[in-house]
Parts: sequence; structure tokens; C-alpha cells
Amino acid sequence: MFLLVFEFLHVIVTVDSKVNQKQHSDAFAIFTKGCIIPTFPLVSENIQNFVGFPKKAIDCSNKYPGALLKSNESHIWIENNVLEQHNIMEKNKFFCCYYNFYANKSVEDIFYGSCVQFSDTIEALHEFVRVECFYLDDKVYDDFFVFPMRIQTVPMKNYKNFNVIIFGLESVSRMNFLRTMPATANFLRGKGSIQLLGYNKLGDNSFPNLFPLLLGKSFKDALSYCTHGNDEIDTIKCAFIWDRFKKSGYVTALGSDSIAGLLGNYEYSLSKLPTDYYLQPFMSESIKLFKNKEYSYHMCYKNKFYYKTLLNYVYHLSNKLKDNNLFGIFWEESVSHEHLNYPHIMDAQYLNLLEKLEISGYLNESVLIFFSDHGMRWGNIVLTEQGRLEERLPLVEILLPPKFKEVYKLAHENLKINSHRLTTPYDMYDTLADLVDPTLLHDHELRRRNKNRMYDNRASLFLPLSENRTCDFVGISDHWCTCHKGMMLPTGHKNRLKASRFLIDYINSLMITFPQCYQLSVKNIFDVSVVMDPRGSTYRVAIEAFPGGGIFDATLRMERGVFAVSGTISRLNLYRGQGDCVQDDSLKMYCYCRQPFRI
Ligand SMILES: *[C@@H]1O[C@H](CO)[C@@H](O)[C@H](O)[C@H]1NC(C)=O
Ligand SMILES: *[C@@H]1O[C@H](CO)[C@@H](O)[C@H](O)[C@H]1NC(C)=O
Ligand SMILES: *[C@@H]1O[C@H](CO)[C@@H](O)[C@H](O)[C@H]1NC(C)=O
Ligand SMILES: *[C@@H]1O[C@H](CO)[C@@H](O)[C@H](O)[C@H]1NC(C)=O
Repeated sequence: MFLLVFEFLHVIVTVDSKVNQKQHSDAFAIFTKGCIIPTFPLVSENIQNFVGFPKKAIDCSNKYPGALLKSNESHIWIENNVLEQHNIMEKNKFFCCYYNFYANKSVEDIFYGSCVQFSDTIEALHEFVRVECFYLDDKVYDDFFVFPMRIQTVPMKNYKNFNVIIFGLESVSRMNFLRTMPATANFLRGKGSIQLLGYNKLGDNSFPNLFPLLLGKSFKDALSYCTHGNDEIDTIKCAFIWDRFKKSGYVTALGSDSIAGLLGNYEYSLSKLPTDYYLQPFMSESIKLFKNKEYSYHMCYKNKFYYKTLLNYVYHLSNKLKDNNLFGIFWEESVSHEHLNYPHIMDAQYLNLLEKLEISGYLNESVLIFFSDHGMRWGNIVLTEQGRLEERLPLVEILLPPKFKEVYKLAHENLKINSHRLTTPYDMYDTLADLVDPTLLHDHELRRRNKNRMYDNRASLFLPLSENRTCDFVGISDHWCTCHKGMMLPTGHKNRLKASRFLIDYINSLMITFPQCYQLSVKNIFDVSVVMDPRGSTYRVAIEAFPGGGIFDATLRMERGVFAVSGTISRLNLYRGQGDCVQDDSLKMYCYCRQPFRI
């Protein structure tokens, strides 16, 4: 009976997408047949001791006053007013060398041009530049710069596809993103972005979560099928997602603000540069500025934030490549990797970049994705219930441009529904692969593809994902699984009846000032399931009302023996016409009018 009913409800939800989507926002991140993920307020008592914005301003220029060299988009110059501070008394015995450098075959296969001497200002004509300054024949200063340059090998496209711009934030859970980067999050939400509420990590650290997303394979399979027994991924055998975009005419870019890159030693062992634009040679050379060369997560180099260099890089690429299709992954790690609360310092800059991309029109032509590999993995926060959950639920937020939503209506609708399903990095790979050729996303194409589908354990988020998905089925091991299995109360259980009656009484109480509606009673109980926690228990109740046959679905909270409705009550079936005698749009769906309403 239970299964039948669920299939029935499932059908109704997909047939009429206008039906009020299930909202369980207070108690659950997602609530499906296969997986119930509880949620918390952004700052619950659980974790309030761990969250808060850093008290001291964190700023590279404070740490490093008196930079000798400064730059803008096109030039580098010497700051004459700080020469004395650097014990440079005779300016005529001081000069700097401009060296361009580039990687030939791999990150570490670096070639330097010869010294171009200057003692005032110099125009930058190369992408990556190192400057060394000398006084009385001693090297007194060293710095690195990135400039936006157009590379020749890039083919112009005669048709425009959507750009795919992916921002990675290392170790940031969905909730930590909302807590620490509210301005960026609000901007995205204001544009109708979609957060995956049931995106569960697959493994502990970055690799088991990033490889599935970038390569479509588990980390283990990647190592056994894609390498020759070493760390080198053979990209002929196994294409990274950027290879697929490149093959279809995209310009590709990969940038990280971490010396480790996106894939650590697996990135450093690639035998060719992975993308057309590639920031890592710069990152890897700039390590020469540091005494502690082993340590990957430097926030600053000289007076500059690495992450700001990364964001500038994105903006310049968007400017230079207006006429191309760009696929880019831009991975921030330098700020967020070590400290739960530090992403806050980047909030204004990410917002600023998004605003600039909006003004330039670039957002309208781009699919934007924010994502992470996992939440914070250490510190006392992971000992709390909320921290444990957040560690396992990384950020994924997808912003589709207006034109995409218009043309690919069903894809957009499916993505919205899937944001309430259990999802993994494999689904993300399949989603990105779908964007390589969006003609596959037209409504009729999606319907055709869906018809031929098995019940699959991975799929593009533009196809409808099953409510049945369990951790086991999609490849998440018990230890990382955030799903609670709700316990279904058997027929005859006293709380089954009590919860159902409570719900119908509550609906009747909402309608008390509308005598034109019938008073409702419980006709059928489809499901009452319960999840217990230390403070009480949470009930999911789905019932059919009489008269009118409305199917209502609600979450109830029970503490100390008292029920309360949590969040909104959803109506899962059509009610067109039934409630027309009530004007209030939010209450209409609870009413079955005593007589047909006439204007
Ligand atoms: C960058 O600096 C150079 C040298 O100071 C100056 O000539 C140029 O106008 C500056 N460019 C911008 C965009 O500010
Ligand atoms: C770069 O690689 C190519 C091809 O392997 C090689 O011919 C060339 O000499 C290398 N060196 C430089 C400086 O570009
Ligand atoms: C982006 O698209 C929206 C909606 O189609 C439009 O109103 C806006 O003017 C566009 N922005 C730019 C900068 O072209
Ligand atoms: C969900 O599971 C039931 C059996 O538990 C099965 O009959 C049904 O086909 C599944 N639905 C989907 C969409 O796979």
C-alpha cells in the first residue's frame, strides 16, 4: 500500500509542476522516500561557539607594508616613495628586471625570458611576469604578476553557446557558504539560483569528491584505469570534463589560488598543460617567495591576496574571450581551507566580481556554478551534530541565465526538483557533460532520454532523479551518508492517528474565518513517519482529506508530547476550482467550497 501511494504521489508531482513543491525547510534539507536529511538553523546552539566573523581584519597589505612594486592591468611600476624604507638611498644604483615566464609542457617545465631592465615603469607584454630588483648589485626584491593576455591558438567561434564558469571554494558546506558569504549568496538567490540541498560528499578529502566531478569516475577507478601505475592521468584514456568542452570548440581555463592546484600531485604529473588558459605555472613559480615551500595554503604573496589574483583572472578572461565559448574552473583554497569563518573576508570580492559580470552582460550568457568538495573537516565543530552533517554536505549552487531557463524549460524544472533529491559529484559530471551540447536539453529531447532510462544511480540533474535514491544505491558509504531513514508508523499505531488528526484540525483552524469552506476530516492516511532526536521527534504526515480529496503533506514537530506544525503544509494534488471561494492565494488550496463560487 505504502509503495503504491508513493508512486501515485510521485506521478502527481511530475504531472503538474505548478503544484506547490514540498517544503520542509524547517526540519529537513530533503525529504524523499529513499533519504531524509535533517537540517539546522544556520547558527544553532550546537555550533554557535565556533562561528563568528574574524575579529581582526585580515589583509595582506597590513602584513606587508611598503610594497616596492605595484601594478595595474597593463603596467608595473616602482613606488619611489618607499625606497628609503627599503634602505635604497641612491636611486641611480637601483634597477629592476622584468622576466616573462611560461610553462611549455607541464606545470613545472618553466622557461624564463631574459631580463628587461627598468627603473621606473614598464608595460607588461606577457601573461606571467617575475620582477627582481637590485641595489648595489644585491638582489633586494622579488615579486610575481599575472596579466590578461590573449593567446593565439584560440579559435573564434561562429556560434555562441553558454559559457560555463565554475567557482570552487575548498571545504565550504552549503550552510557555511550562507553564513560566511551572505552577500554573494543573496546575489545568487536574487537571480534565481538553485542550491542542491541533498548534495552529499562521496569520500573524506578532496580527491574522492573532485575526481568523480571532473573525470566522471571514482578516485579509485581513476587510479586503476586512467594511469599507468603512477600519478599521471592519461587524458587520452580518460578525459577530464574540460577536455570534453575543448573538443566541442570551447576555450578552456583552469585556475587555482593554491600552490597545490586543484588536484595536487595528479595535476603536477600531467604530461601536458590541461587547458588553454592555465594559472598553475604562475602559482607554482610564486612559491619562490616563501621560505616554507612545503606549505600549500599561502593566503598572501607580498601585499596581495592570491584569491584576488584568481578573481581578477576570471574577470579578464571574461573580457578577453567575449566572442568565444569559455569553460573555466576557478578553485579557491588559500582562504577557506584552514578556517571555518574566513570565507567571510572574500564575500565582498566575489560579490563585486559577480556584479561586474552582470554589468558586462557576461552573466546573461553563462551558466554559473559554485561548489565545494566537502565541508570543514577538522576542528571541534565536526564533533557536533550540525558540524558532522555540514562536513558531509558541500555547497553546490547553480545559476542558469534567463535565456537558458526560457529555452530549456523542462531542464530548469527538473533541476529545481532535483535540488530536493539525494545527489552526488557523479551527477554533477553528467550535468556538466550535458552542457557540452545543450541541444540534448530541449524539452522533447529530455522526454525522449527519460523514456529510455533505467533507474540510474547517476544522471544529469536536468533529468528527473528518483525519490527512491538511497546512499547505498548512489555510492555513498554509510559513514558519509547524511540520510536518516524515517520509521514508518504501522497502521493502527496511536501516533499515526493522532498526528493525522492534529494536521487536519490545524488546517481547519486556519480556515475558521472561511465558513464558505467545508470542515475537513481525515479520509485516508498515506504515511506517517517519524525521526527521533534528543529533543523530541519529527513527523512527516501525508493524508487525504474529505470532502474534496485534497492530499496534504506536512512536517510536525513533537516535543514533550505536544505537536506543532513546522514550515508550510503542501498540497500534493490538483485543486483548481475547488477553492475559488477564497481569495487568499496561500489558503485557497486548503478549501473545498460549499458551493461553486460565482463572481
Ligand atoms: C596603468 O598604469 C600606467 C602607468 O602608470 C598608466 O599609464 C595606465 O593608464 C594605467 N592603466 C589603467 C587602466 O589605469
Ligand atoms: C617546448 O616543447 C617543444 C615540444 O616538446 C620543444 O620543441 C621546445 O624546444 C620546448 N622548449 C621551449 C623553450 O619552448
Ligand atoms: C540580461 O538579461 C536580462 C533579462 O533578459 C536583461 O533585462 C538585461 O538587460 C541583460 N543584461 C545585460 C547587461 O545585457
Ligand atoms: C522506486 O522503487 C520502487 C520499488 O521500491 C519501484 O517499483 C519504482 O519503480 C522505483 N521508482 C523509480 C522512479 O525508480
